[in-house]
Amino acid sequence: MRAMSEPINHAGDACRPLAGKRIVLGVTGGIAAYKTPELVRRLIEQGAEVQVVMTEAARRFVTPLSLQAVSGRAVRESLWDPAAELGMGHIELARWADLLLVAPATANSIALLAQGRAQDLLSTIALATAAPLMLAPAMNRLMWAHAATQDNVRLLASRGVRLLGPAEGELAERETGPGRMLEPGEIRDHVVAHFGGGRLAGRRVLVTAGPTREPIDPVRYITNRSSGRMGYALAAACAAAGAEVTLVSGPTALETPPGCDRVDVETAAQMHEAVMQRAGDADVFIATAAVADYRPAEVAEQKMKKSGSNISLELAATRDILADVAARHARLFTLGFAAETQDMEARARDKRERKGLDMLAGNQVGAGLAFDVADNSLYVCWQGGDTRLPQAKKTELGRQLVALMADHYSRSPKYDA
Ligand code: CTP
Repeated sequence: MRAMSEPINHAGDACRPLAGKRIVLGVTGGIAAYKTPELVRRLIEQGAEVQVVMTEAARRFVTPLSLQAVSGRAVRESLWDPAAELGMGHIELARWADLLLVAPATANSIALLAQGRAQDLLSTIALATAAPLMLAPAMNRLMWAHAATQDNVRLLASRGVRLLGPAEGELAERETGPGRMLEPGEIRDHVVAHFGGGRLAGRRVLVTAGPTREPIDPVRYITNRSSGRMGYALAAACAAAGAEVTLVSGPTALETPPGCDRVDVETAAQMHEAVMQRAGDADVFIATAAVADYRPAEVAEQKMKKSGSNISLELAATRDILADVAARHARLFTLGFAAETQDMEARARDKRERKGLDMLAGNQVGAGLAFDVADNSLYVCWQGGDTRLPQAKKTELGRQLVALMADHYSRSPKYDA
């Protein structure tokens, strides 16, 4: 007979990457706390055992009863609860955890953790545990940008604390900016990747993103409308799926996604060189960058002076990074993008074949989609098939596209090559 303390061996645990993992989820007092029942559900679906620890402020945003219902465990709220402490003392709980995840992590809770104060049950557990700590910050954008918060975050990161987000987007006070907690599914993906279970675990992914800048003279350049958001979203989704990600980025205003190495470049030639140096070590290449097809043939050394009459600029073709990678590194799984204003689907299929790619995602440009906006929709094609990913935020689309790519990649002969 099975002893009572033995873990139940659920059928299908092989497909549940968090099976047997014990997570203490610290919920602190921010509006995003209302999303934590969903987060608990997502973690449990993957096999995790979740023990929720709430701060007093968190109760104002989500009830302990909801979190108890979804986690199947009584929520812990206080250091001074004799009955709960008798069941499992706070030091025992700190030892029990394989991971301490704080979501949402408010500015105040981040400050407490940075200072190492044992002010309540959660901060005491954080001091007493040897388990890794992950934080999903959520707060007003100005609180996030404040030097005190940024110092605290840097200090925590230097101690090995993993920061998940925050994402940019609409905030509670009808403001927009960085400060949103990552979605429960994204946090779950990071946790799965942390335990080595992501779909791209152990794979190296090289991503290009953003525009390039082609100088005309020391003060002028040619560029395009790319914001880099789609590429950054894909890089984030690959890292969340367990990949080692290198992001070769043109100039953007975006923060490096968690878990990605970033290499900054400006021109198409620099991007070409940065990619070629790294392509040999990669397993997957994703080209989202809006690389200039042409650059000024000559770059003036001094600022060009106006003469009052028209001038013309001679442009020289740049090299196609994606086509070069596909041609030189047949072992790499390649995903390209195509931005088209007309006949998008047919042109996307044609571009995939012409550049010799495994997969291609087509963007319809215009009508508020594709460039320099937060939303997009995609047409994705591969050898012998295609599908459409309907309009959604680029972060969500990034996840969907990476899931689709990982499906195809894992079935392709390149996966074992
Ligand atoms: N690309 C690249 N290097 C270039 C140009 C494009 O790596 N010098 C990549 C882009 O990152 C994208 C894909 O190629 O993944 C397609 O880019 P797009 O500009 O749509 O296509 P082009 O090759 O420029 O073709 P066309 O001008 O015919 O649309």
